[in-house]
Amino acid sequence: MSNIVIVGTQWGDEGKGKMVDLLSEHADYVVRFQGGNNAGHTMVVNGKKIISHLVPSGILQKKKCFIGNGVVVDPVVLLDEIDYLTENKIDVSPAMLKISNRAHMIMPYHRHVDAARELKKGDKKIGTTGRGIGPCYEDKATRRGIRFADFLEPDLFKDKVRTILEEKNFYFKNYFNTTTIDPEEVIDLYLKLGERLIPYIDDVSLALAGGMNAGKKILFEGAQGSHLDIDHGTYPFVTSSNTVAGNATCGAGVGPGSLNEIFGIVKAYTTRVGGGPFPTELFDETGDRLQEKGAEFGATTGRRRRCGWLDSIVLKSAARLNGLTGLIITKLDVLDGLDELKICTGYEYQGNIITDFPPSIKILEDCTPVYETHPGWSENISGIRNYDDLPENTRKYLKRLEEISGVGIKIVSVGPERDATIIREGVFN
Ligand code: GDP
Ligand code: IMO
Ligand code: MG
Repeated sequence: MSNIVIVGTQWGDEGKGKMVDLLSEHADYVVRFQGGNNAGHTMVVNGKKIISHLVPSGILQKKKCFIGNGVVVDPVVLLDEIDYLTENKIDVSPAMLKISNRAHMIMPYHRHVDAARELKKGDKKIGTTGRGIGPCYEDKATRRGIRFADFLEPDLFKDKVRTILEEKNFYFKNYFNTTTIDPEEVIDLYLKLGERLIPYIDDVSLALAGGMNAGKKILFEGAQGSHLDIDHGTYPFVTSSNTVAGNATCGAGVGPGSLNEIFGIVKAYTTRVGGGPFPTELFDETGDRLQEKGAEFGATTGRRRRCGWLDSIVLKSAARLNGLTGLIITKLDVLDGLDELKICTGYEYQGNIITDFPPSIKILEDCTPVYETHPGWSENISGIRNYDDLPENTRKYLKRLEEISGVGIKIVSVGPERDATIIREGVFN
């Protein structure tokens, strides 16, 4: 297997965790390169479900895992996750997990800003995960962030926390009308957490380069989805990082030439959690059916996910933005038993048909999706392991997804378990 980047093609929760876990068997290293614990990646092995938010999903396959510089890391959450995985008999020792010394740290004031801002926005809120992701990236961009390397210089760490809280506390008190945060409490807590985390800190870019020179194969694990990308997504209803495949280079510290294959995960229908436009959202029985059969509840916040039909505009633009070389279709089993399936082929706006994403949220909200209809299948496909054994109508639906995206399907997932998977020939050549 060559180096592979895995990205979500929609609005997240496409099943990246399952696929990274599966493909990790053929990799040596697994790397997260953006996002933070807004992600919730589910793996199901031998009936047991494990959800990871920060530790790469390769950890179950005992692969060396890295958290790249592009990830924003909450030390409290990371340590909880290390403890949770260890309790589940998964080795997350410093030999198995490295955190970039350049990764930015989510601090208590980031979570506090996230919550206060959402509250102030009222019904115009983004519907963030409340994990402090945006405020942390904001401090990174304004060059006031705290990085994991700062744990190694406690005096600098203390100075940075005191300085930044002077400004934040002014906002908390005078703008958000909320409680302030004591810098000394933060310093005491975080330097204690730092003691446990110091053995995990490394120069991830150097480690990956060394590995590649020695012939190691890398799997890059994207978080969120292409339409939550801060530049290319449905701004401002997006996350605060670049979620597209190109960011695997900046966020892990490797050159673009190291990315050999880009696999896009496509849920066989669409979901979205949080606010923002979703043209193919269903508010009827079919939407409820997808939500229930697909068990569509957020793996991070437990929120009910909004559900709708597959959208070719979403898929086509994800293929372009990521330079996809392969598709992985997930949750196809959830469509079993539907009489017919719809695929959105364009949006009608003021009498015209749009076939590419407009940058304006206002236009998107006023669009009406135009659909093509496909016959469904009555069979239960969850036990099928060979592509050719899929019902004819299932294969026709899949072929249509290849036509729309211009990208071939490599893998099809028909259940949450690792082995509920159809792998087409040649994927690991
Ligand atoms: P991620 O964020 O992209 O890793 O996805 P999540 O873990 O948030 O959500 C995907 C959900 O679908 C999880 O509960 C998975 O266990 C489940 N899942 C993944 N693939 C399949 C599949 O092919 N069929 C079914 N029924 N469930 C799946
Ligand atoms: P995975 O990796 C689905 C959404 C939030 C919100 C918006 C901004 O599991 O696919 P943020 O907390 O990032 O500032 O929230 O992005 N969001 C996700 N939705 N899956 C995710 O991750 C998400 N991460 C963030 O719901 O709408
Ligand atoms: Mg998820």
